[in-house]
Formats: sequence, structure tokens, C-alpha cells
Amino acid sequence: MDKFVIRGGKTLSGTVQASGAKNATLALMPATLLAPGSYTLHHTPELRDVTTMSRLLETMGLKIERVDDALRIDSSVVSSYEAPYEHVKKMRASIYVLGPLVGRFGQADVSLPGGCAWGPRPVNLHIEGLRKLGAQIDVEGGYIRARAKRLKGARIVFDVSSVGATGNVMMAAVLAQGTTIIDNAAMEPEIAALGDLLLKMGARIHGVGTNHLEIEGVDTLHPADFVTIPDRIETGTLLVAAALAGKRDGKVRVEHCNPAHLSAVTTKLEDVGARLTLGKDFIEIVPPEVIQPVNITTSIYSGFPTDMQAQWIALMSLARGASIVTETIYGDRFMHVPELVRLGANITVKENIATVVGVEKLTGAKVMSTDLRASASLILAGLAAEGETEVLRVYHLDRGYERIEQKLSRLGAQIERVSGEEF
Ligand code: EPZ
Repeated sequence: MDKFVIRGGKTLSGTVQASGAKNATLALMPATLLAPGSYTLHHTPELRDVTTMSRLLETMGLKIERVDDALRIDSSVVSSYEAPYEHVKKMRASIYVLGPLVGRFGQADVSLPGGCAWGPRPVNLHIEGLRKLGAQIDVEGGYIRARAKRLKGARIVFDVSSVGATGNVMMAAVLAQGTTIIDNAAMEPEIAALGDLLLKMGARIHGVGTNHLEIEGVDTLHPADFVTIPDRIETGTLLVAAALAGKRDGKVRVEHCNPAHLSAVTTKLEDVGARLTLGKDFIEIVPPEVIQPVNITTSIYSGFPTDMQAQWIALMSLARGASIVTETIYGDRFMHVPELVRLGANITVKENIATVVGVEKLTGAKVMSTDLRASASLILAGLAAEGETEVLRVYHLDRGYERIEQKLSRLGAQIERVSGEEF
């Protein structure tokens, strides 16, 4: 397993490019199950999770090859309707094959995803949504077994706004007979991107990008090419790195991003004292003289994203004062806190609220990655800490950040990947 060795205190400045969005890609890839033929998904990031999804789809008969920054997917042959445990346990997003398989083939056997580092990850909304569309679903032996003749349009209201359940039900409904209405649908840009691909494939969807979707089922769809949206969480992570470790008179410019997808984070960074310039496809940040303490509460889009919560706590660890971080999406998503405390941060967690009292400095230490965004927060803290920080088990990070150590090195960070067994 690899680790990162970081020598903190280097200041960051320069230009870096954002990669394509992981959480859009993981929905776009299984959508190719809905119509046979060849698709090119441009701006697809090279990530472990993308490889995991590719392997899963290949076990189902699809042919997938990387061509430069694109994935070329041929879904002419679908020979299996199963997503086995060994794939799903690696990545919860594997469940995204459920909707398209039931929608097009009327059959799917998908392993229940396990939990993750920070707790249970229910899939009741996925199952209830598909049942409303007429699928017969039994959950037995750790598998979701779905069978259906042709799905029928229905009115669905999600009790909780769910990115995955919205994606799955949307992909099932586009080939259903009749119209499906989804209320309290997720509005995340990644789900809007999925809706845009489905529209290009001939689906009839009104309200893409809103929380009210009206889907008129069609008999068949056709393949389409697509340019994946930029990764707003990677962009936010790079901006927080700059706010934490940026050269006081320098600036960091993140290109190939979409500032409109990140307004909650850029606004909060301005409250911290950073100066930001937002272009059409770039964001420039001049770091704050002093990091002001700024409270955040995570929420569904377009509020502050839960996937930026760990990175924000790293930033607040060096603020001049105390801040409150309230996590409303996953109440126990604080596995990064004990590791940040090992670097000298002063953070206490009570239920879903973290209180961060800014300290003068962080001191390098060996810390352990537990999940994707926790790993990111440890790297950010390591960049600002005095001395050397070792972040172990960076395979968590490789799931969702494309060559992050190269991007940070280009900005002036001293960060090195070290391969080895025993870490
Ligand atoms: C997606 O996960 C993202 N993953 C997550 O990003 C992200 O944190 C999350 O959305 C929230 O924005 C992908 O897109 C691959 P949800 P998802 O269904 O779809 C509850 C990362 O770091 N819920 O929107 O699994 C759930 O417990 C990852 O890139 C149910 O109760 O999240 C949570 O409290 C981590 N029942 C809330 O909804 C269900 O059936 C939001 O979850 C489904 C969800």
C-alpha cells in the first residue's frame, strides 16, 4: 500500500487543472446499459473508482477502453444482469447498475452495498422507488433481486434527497411505460449531468437539474457521446489547499472547473478572508492573511457539500478562533477528526457537530486514511503542518483524486508517494 510523505510549510502558487467529476462518471458509465452501441465519455478521470466500475460493467459483457482523456464504452452485448458482492463491496456506487438493468432488461441481482468507514449506507429509497415503478424486489442473501415486466410510470416522492436513488430511479423510468414524476429529487450537478446524457440518448425528461423531474417513458434509446462536467469537490479541495498553504502574496488558479457548481464553498472561502476571482471556467484564489473562523452546515445542493466537510475542518484547525461544523447528511462522518487531532488540531465532536478551536500551528505526524475525503483533509493539514507528515493507506485517496500529488507538487508542495507493503 502507498503512503504520502509531506514536508509542510511550503507555500503554494501557480496553475492547476481540475479533472472530470468522479460522481458524474460513476452514474454516466452504467447509463450505457440502457441502449446498445458505442459511447465516448470525454474528460473521464483516471481513478480507482472508475476502474472498479469498468471492471463491473466488463463482467456484464461491456467492452471498455481508455482513449486519451475519454472512455470508449461498447454496450452492444450485455450478457449478465448481476453485480456481485466482490465488486459492490469495493464501491457503493456499483448499485447504479440496478436502475438501468431493471429498466431495460426487467432483471437485476445486485449485492447490497456494505457500510463505509463512517457508518451505514441504506438503499431503501432505491428499492422503494423501483417498487413504485412496478418492480418485484426481494432482498435476500445479501442481494437485491429485482424482476419486472415493463416498468410503469409512477409518482415518487423521496423522503430524503438522495443522489444515488435519484440516479437509479431516473435511469429506470426513462424506458418505463407512461410518465414518472419524481419529487424531492437530488439536484446535484452530477445528477443533472446524468439527465443531460439521458436526454442526448433520446430520453424525455423535464426539469433536469431541479428537484421536480417529469419523465415520459420511451420504447428505446440510442447511444450518445458526452463531455463529463468538472469535479467540483476536487476543485474545492485544491482551493482549500491554497487557503491553508498558499503564498501570502501568491495566488493559485484552478482551471477547467465550473465556479457555478461551487458557490457555497467559494462564498465561505471569502468569509475566511481569501480573495477569489471567478471566471467562466477558472477560479483564482489569494489566500487570507489570517484564516477567520467560519461556521458551516452541510446540506444538499446547492448548500455546502458534505464531501467538503473534512477539508473545511482541516482549514478551520488553523483559524484565529473557534468554528462550528454541522454535518446534516451523514451524522457520523468524522473519521478524520482523531487523525487531525494527532497533528495538533483542537477539535471536539458531539453527535453531528464538530467544534474546532483554531491553533497556532499543526505538527507533522504519521496519520491514517480512513476514507476518501478524510484522506484529503489529512493531506491539506500536512501541507500546513510544521515538519513531516506521513499519510498512510492513500489507496482511499486514489479512489477519487486523479494524481493529486502531482497537482500539488506543481503548485510547490513537497509531497511524495512512497510505495511499500507494511504501511
Ligand atoms: C453520493 O452518495 C456521493 N457518491 C457521495 O460522495 C456524497 O457524499 C453523497 O452523494 C451526498 O452528496 C456518489 O455520487 C458516487 P445519497 P449517495 O443517497 O448517492 C440517505 C464522495 O466522497 N439515504 O445522496 O450514496 C443517506 O444515508 C462520496 O465522493 C437513505 O436514507 O448519497 C444519506 O444520509 C461519499 N436511503 C443521504 O440519504 C437511501 O436509499 C444522502 O445520501 C439512500 C440514501
